[in-house]
Amino acid sequence: MESSVPSSSAVEEEEEGGTVDDARKLNSGDEGEEEQVMSEVHLGCPPGFSGPYISDFTVFLPQDTIMGWKTQDEAIASQTVDLDEDGDLLLPRRSKVSNDICSLRIQHNITSSIPNVGLQVWSAELVLSDFMLHKLASSSEFHGAIALELGAGTGLVGLLLARYANTVFLTDHGNEILGNCAENVNLNAGLLNCQAAIQVRELDWFNGWPPEPIIEEASLSRGFCWTLKEIEEAENASLLLAADVIYSDNLTDAFFSTLERLMSRGSRKVLYLALEKRYNFSLSDLDVVANGYSHFRSYVKDEDEMKCLDSKSMPCFVGKLIDITQIPQYVKEYERGLEVEIWEIKYYPPEAIMAE
Ligand SMILES: C[S@@+](CC[C@H](N)C(=O)[O-])C[C@H]1O[C@@H](n2cnc3c(N)ncnc32)[C@H](O)[C@@H]1O
Repeated sequence: MESSVPSSSAVEEEEEGGTVDDARKLNSGDEGEEEQVMSEVHLGCPPGFSGPYISDFTVFLPQDTIMGWKTQDEAIASQTVDLDEDGDLLLPRRSKVSNDICSLRIQHNITSSIPNVGLQVWSAELVLSDFMLHKLASSSEFHGAIALELGAGTGLVGLLLARYANTVFLTDHGNEILGNCAENVNLNAGLLNCQAAIQVRELDWFNGWPPEPIIEEASLSRGFCWTLKEIEEAENASLLLAADVIYSDNLTDAFFSTLERLMSRGSRKVLYLALEKRYNFSLSDLDVVANGYSHFRSYVKDEDEMKCLDSKSMPCFVGKLIDITQIPQYVKEYERGLEVEIWEIKYYPPEAIMAE
């Protein structure tokens, strides 16, 4: 695994309300070029290369999920019982797993401009993949789910989930990022043995939810537009995923506004959000602060605070921090930093607060 990480700039650009500041800022040396940022995930890529590049991510599939919809114990219980020549019970052996490692092919850039950060893979996406695979191994919550990933970028976590879910919507904005995501769906079509229908669709948080549906379902030029049927299906999703979408206060506002609309329609949903806490030196505070994180926390109440809410309370998001030290690493090629957190977030309209 090659890595060449330039030193990072630590001074926050405050007028933007925060940027992907912790990402490695590259100096192009050409004043006319847009500023480039670099994530820490660039495995296998030759030094100096900026992409697009196709990397193979090795993923250990947790044992119980290899059997698909059944847990391993259920699968064993469903096997016929045999006796040996002495009449003793032959206990069924756990089937030898030959394909418990899968290789996911992901096309990604090694650097990008800030508006194109979705062309790169960010660490939070890999931590969220670990979490999701662990959930698949330890509960039935994600099996057969309708799921939607927001700010999916390369679509890595959604692609893994597609092996077990019913439908996965991979959403982001802009044709370049969505096109790259769709390319990753194609690259993995034969590899993943997907159970799910995967749809790559545009969901720009500044346009909110629901998106404008296309009139002609069969239109050849539909691009990444939604049909009415797909919008209804997405509103019935039970699972929302998002990784590394908290880095600019404006975006965080638009993200939570979209979430509020999406989560208050259709089925009850839970969001698993992986974020990277980015610390920067702030000139106004004269201290190292995590501003983007504080802004995120202003949207999310702790579970304890929930107990103090009543019917007059505003609608709110309630979050629980997941202990990721308990989650094994299923995706091989990355170093899990201490700065990534995963939050389980639910949305409570006032009537739901009353009922709790
Ligand atoms: C840091 S990248 C994370 C990408 C991917 N989830 C990962 O962790 O590898 C942030 C993502 O948010 C998306 N994003 C930014 N602004 C957006 C907007 N207005 N609407 C939807 N997605 C947006 C970007 O395109 C990008 O894919």
